[in-house]
Amino acid sequence: MSVLVCTDLNVRFRTDYGEIQAVRDFSLTLAKGECVGVVGESGSGKSQTFMAMLGLLADNGRATGSVKLDGQEILNAPRSLLNTVRGSRVGMIFQDPMSSLTPFLKVGEQMCEGLMHHQGLSMSAARARAMEVLELVRIPDAKRRFNQYPHELSGGMKQRVMIGQAIMCKPAVLVADEPTTALDVTVQAQILEILEGLKAHTDTAIVMITHDLGVVAGICDRVQVMYAGRVVEEGPIDDIFHRTRHPYTQGLLRSVPGFELDPTQPLAAIAGQPPAPDALPPGCAFAPRCGYVTPTCATTVPPLAVRPPAQRAACVLEALP
Ligand SMILES: Nc1ncnc2c1ncn2[C@@H]1O[C@H](COP(=O)(O)OP(=O)(O)OP(=O)(O)O)[C@@H](O)[C@H]1O
Ligand code: SF4
Ligand SMILES: [Mg+2]
Repeated sequence: MSVLVCTDLNVRFRTDYGEIQAVRDFSLTLAKGECVGVVGESGSGKSQTFMAMLGLLADNGRATGSVKLDGQEILNAPRSLLNTVRGSRVGMIFQDPMSSLTPFLKVGEQMCEGLMHHQGLSMSAARARAMEVLELVRIPDAKRRFNQYPHELSGGMKQRVMIGQAIMCKPAVLVADEPTTALDVTVQAQILEILEGLKAHTDTAIVMITHDLGVVAGICDRVQVMYAGRVVEEGPIDDIFHRTRHPYTQGLLRSVPGFELDPTQPLAAIAGQPPAPDALPPGCAFAPRCGYVTPTCATTVPPLAVRPPAQRAACVLEALP
């Protein structure tokens, strides 16, 4: 059963230099309990896609399209509905824990706040759930941590509290935006284990936003690769890794340790930079960086076309050489 269905989402921003389009025709169907990775370099539109869905765009932004949560349209919905969605149906984890933890509120108080406010639970019921969640996110000595302030916790522990806060209300969807980027490798692995545990033991569907294809490998069922605001390849995780259909995905894979296509070659980043949204080349946006570019690529924007059995790719090549 689909819990979230996003169709043809477009996000535009008004700027001093005119309007720019940050997200183009983004569609996603997320099933209950499924984990989907959204992967791409900085600026590719990953965060704004989900900010738009949840009504969190900056004042100069606007979104068109459709986003249905359990069948209910939420795109550009009234503030009261969006507050309920964010408070109890969709949890969000951001890259920087301090952006969603309030420094002057004790950990326990901020964890319980949403549950009491949105679901009308008593303090003692909310506290019981917080204890359960702190255990789920592997915070030892939960009683003591409950009464501490965020600054008394390590970076990794803050990140775990933030995950805890996001899952307090047992959301239908959890959006994790670069949840491991600022953390060291050991803590990164712990955070991924917690998300894997959530996937295994709850019905919550997870969206994992990251620039690192390696991060999605162990946890995601499907992946959507974004470039310059568009999805350029999508499909089941195994196909993305082993039957790659888009040159950009291939480039991303070459920079992931353990997944490089030729293990005898050093890891390589993709040469060049992605284009700014206001300076997209005509035709395929990846053309200036693509090793397979053909004359058609400079004039035609390739549509996201089906590549059997289960992938889609936006490239003039039916298969990579
Ligand atoms: N308020 C805004 N006004 C104008 N442009 C914006 C605004 N917010 C975001 N953008 C632009 O939208 C584009 C997509 O940004 P987004 O934050 O979604 O990228 P991202 O893929 O999440 O990158 P990162 O990996 O760095 O987080 C970028 O070019 C960004 O500069
Ligand atoms: S359409 Fe052309 S430039 Fe774009 S990714 Fe495919 S081969 Fe490369
Ligand atoms: Mg981002």
